[in-house]
Amino acid sequence: DPQRIAVKPVVGSTNDEIKNDLLSVTLNPGYGLFSEAQTAGRGRRGKSWHSPFGSNLYISIYWPLNEGINRAMGLSLAVGIAVAEGLIELGMEDVGLKWPNDVYVAGHKIAGILVDIESCYDGSASCVIGIGVNVNMPDSVGQKIDQLWTDVAKQLTGQWSRNEIAGVIYRHVIEQLTLFSAEGLETMRKRWAELDVFINRSVKLLMGERIVQGTCRGIDENGAILIESDNNIVRYFGGEISLRAA
Ligand code: BTN
Repeated sequence: DPQRIAVKPVVGSTNDEIKNDLLSVTLNPGYGLFSEAQTAGRGRRGKSWHSPFGSNLYISIYWPLNEGINRAMGLSLAVGIAVAEGLIELGMEDVGLKWPNDVYVAGHKIAGILVDIESCYDGSASCVIGIGVNVNMPDSVGQKIDQLWTDVAKQLTGQWSRNEIAGVIYRHVIEQLTLFSAEGLETMRKRWAELDVFINRSVKLLMGERIVQGTCRGIDENGAILIESDNNIVRYFGGEISLRAA
């Protein structure tokens, strides 16, 4: 159904493609764009996202957020839960989330999420949710990735096609977004804590020049990360979290 999903052989970035579409057409909430490759795939923090043809998943989903930009942080966390749940449904074990929304399997990153938000004058916002899932990363590309990574092929024994994986993940994301728009993050906090790879561990949060150290205590109702130090819990909305060396 072209009103709901589209599949393309190659685009610059599926996020940019949807953002561009939005300038001229009205898209249905939940519209999903799947591409076989990206020539300008984007990661968070201005990094590029390696997007070779036919080996991984590059998905973007349009989702309007009537409640506006304040809830965007929560939305990106909700999507992380959905991608994790999809991988778990496929049979993957040791699936976890690194705040705000990196998906890890056994300590290696398997999927990343990039949410682009455009604020509208009426206070609402329009979100383009980009999801990249490593399915069968070519070694030549994997060598260029500057962090520990894994893919579906390394974790499961080939019983799923890329289409099936895409379908399962897309379904989970739509379900979770629908729930999020109805109820917010509150009902999801417990699940997030279960999947949080850093919960109750000693972490450091890097925010530009500033470093905060403490114990990770999960997330608050808006999706901010909670870090405890000196018996005091403080919430942070940004930064790069990592484990603190013992
Ligand atoms: C990250 O840095 O972890 C986020 C990676 C997001 C990659 C996906 S692939 C589909 C969509 N289009 C993009 O250009 N980026 C996202």
